[in-house]
Amino acid sequence: MAAAHKAGEGPRFTVRPFRAGDLLEARRIFSEGAMDLPWPAFRRAVLSPAASCLLLAAGAAVYVASWSLAWAALTVATLLALLYLACRMVFANYLREMLETDMADIEGTYMGRPGAGFWVVEEEGGGGGLRGVVAAQEAEGEPGCCQLLRLSVDRRCRGLGLGRRLTRRVLEFARNSGCRECVLHTSTAQLPAIRLYQAQGFRVTREDEPMPGLALLSWVTNIYQCEMRLDV
Ligand SMILES: CC(C)(COP(=O)(O)OP(=O)(O)OC[C@H]1O[C@@H](n2cnc3c(N)ncnc32)[C@H](O)[C@@H]1OP(=O)(O)O)[C@@H](O)C(=O)NCCC(=O)NCCS
Repeated sequence: MAAAHKAGEGPRFTVRPFRAGDLLEARRIFSEGAMDLPWPAFRRAVLSPAASCLLLAAGAAVYVASWSLAWAALTVATLLALLYLACRMVFANYLREMLETDMADIEGTYMGRPGAGFWVVEEEGGGGGLRGVVAAQEAEGEPGCCQLLRLSVDRRCRGLGLGRRLTRRVLEFARNSGCRECVLHTSTAQLPAIRLYQAQGFRVTREDEPMPGLALLSWVTNIYQCEMRLDV
């Protein structure tokens, strides 16, 4: 789909404000985006100093105790599986919390409220359907600062520029609302998102905060919150 679109033969997309009937699709796109993250996060976690030392030490200890390569390999494999589950838990916890709060009532949370908005990207023509979502609200405790959040693009349509269009829509909204700055929070495991934001001019302002309520998991998995800001 990406190649066809880039050649000008593929579907066309429109960014528009959220409507009540979009709720289920918006939640699906957001959920799929969040649950695509454990695997890249796991790859990053395996290479973290804490995890690699733990894996090597555990494998070596079991080998010395049993003189069995099979037991050592089984121990390392088990720890790798636990590490993957830990990465999954980080994002599953985050997703559950969001689906129970603002993403349960997008209309009530974002629409018609000053300083807030929610946009979707829709595929034009017969295909129809939503292909991406993004939200904005006034950053907590920071009047004049717009927070970008909930950006997600349907996995079949990534690489087509939809994430960039949605990000620019929020920046335009921030400027039109008289904001001086835009802030967002992502995680150090979300490299495509970080690159996308950097390409729009955002700079990393913090990247050492543990995931909320998950300090130990953040340390083991090497996944930290990443704050980025841009003057608009
Ligand atoms: C992050 C995400 C929204 C990007 O959406 P997208 O529509 O694929 O991104 P775009 O096609 O608009 O790409 C814009 C820029 O982002 C960067 N980018 C996007 N995907 C990338 C990837 N896989 N690797 C590296 N950079 C990437 C590039 O700088 C790209 O510009 P370029 O095409 O000129 O190189 C999408 O991957 C997604 O939904 N991920 C899962 C959910 C998520 O992480 N959301 C962010 C929440 S903070």
